[in-house]
Amino acid sequence: MQRKGIILAGGRGTRLHPLTIGLSKALLPVYDKPMIYYPLSVLMLAGIREIAIITTPEDQDLFQRVLGDGGHLGVSLTWIAQPSPDGLAQAYLLAEEFLDGAPSAMVLGDNLFFGNDLTERLARADANPGATVFACRVSDPERYGVVAFEGDRVTGIVEKPAVPPSNYAVTGIYFLPGDAPRRARDVQPSARGELEIVSLLEMYLEDGQLGVEKMGRGYAWFDAGTHASLLEAGTFVQALQDRQGLLIGAPEEIAHARGWMSDAQLREAAARYGKSGYGARIGASLEDRADRAGLPRLAA
Ligand code: DAU
Repeated sequence: MQRKGIILAGGRGTRLHPLTIGLSKALLPVYDKPMIYYPLSVLMLAGIREIAIITTPEDQDLFQRVLGDGGHLGVSLTWIAQPSPDGLAQAYLLAEEFLDGAPSAMVLGDNLFFGNDLTERLARADANPGATVFACRVSDPERYGVVAFEGDRVTGIVEKPAVPPSNYAVTGIYFLPGDAPRRARDVQPSARGELEIVSLLEMYLEDGQLGVEKMGRGYAWFDAGTHASLLEAGTFVQALQDRQGLLIGAPEEIAHARGWMSDAQLREAAARYGKSGYGARIGASLEDRADRAGLPRLAA
């Protein structure tokens, strides 16, 4: 069964107040585009075209104004409301009908990834019939879910541990098999009252079905959940894009490279952005085919 995508972009974003009083976190700018373009691009790089976006009920129409039904990006978007932020694992309960038994890839709305072989790693995770998480080496693992290893073997995942068992944080990309919604029903609320993703991942670990893709040197991963990390992510995108003249996190460019969008549709998409630098770069990417040859074309 074809893997489906989920972007979890609900939550109140209180750590970003007052920025998030009037606007949802995943719609805040990360340099030249709304934050949600980045997780959407990750799913598209994974070859996924059927995507559910989970938002708060109040913010849904704002997100729809930005992304619509996804048709102009070569994907199909389904909108799901999460009435209250009761935990990451709840996404699988909310998306059960949408997934309809399919395996899934979920990306958190505030997670940004950049790395040369990301597409290959995503393909590897897609080919794994079990669960896969992506772990990234960080200097402050206590802020995240952390992977415990014995040699190369994963022995546990701990949420925000006071004493981290390793420097590898679990990032916000989760590839799970088709039974994730069924298993999510057995997740009990934690002490902070949330259905924790870690509890769901532990179930796969106990069954010997959890794989970890380690992102080492040369990877940039941002969880843009604080003022400092939001600015850091924007500065990183600006520096890389301006230096290379290539875009990071541009769904149109990926759709075109995948063969989900024609040359004419890409030109139309670029024109839709008016005089913005983003639109100009989208248009210019038509001339940059050689540089994007690394992206395999997938069947439409
Ligand atoms: O960013 C990676 C980290 O994300 C992982 O290392 C942790 O294991 C995982 O628990 C999560 O930690 P956070 O502290 O970042 O989770 P937070 O509650 O901030 O939620 C992450 C995003 O998901 C946030 O943008 C809001 C959204 N969200 C969160 C919850 C709890 C929802 O849409 N609905 C929710 O119910």
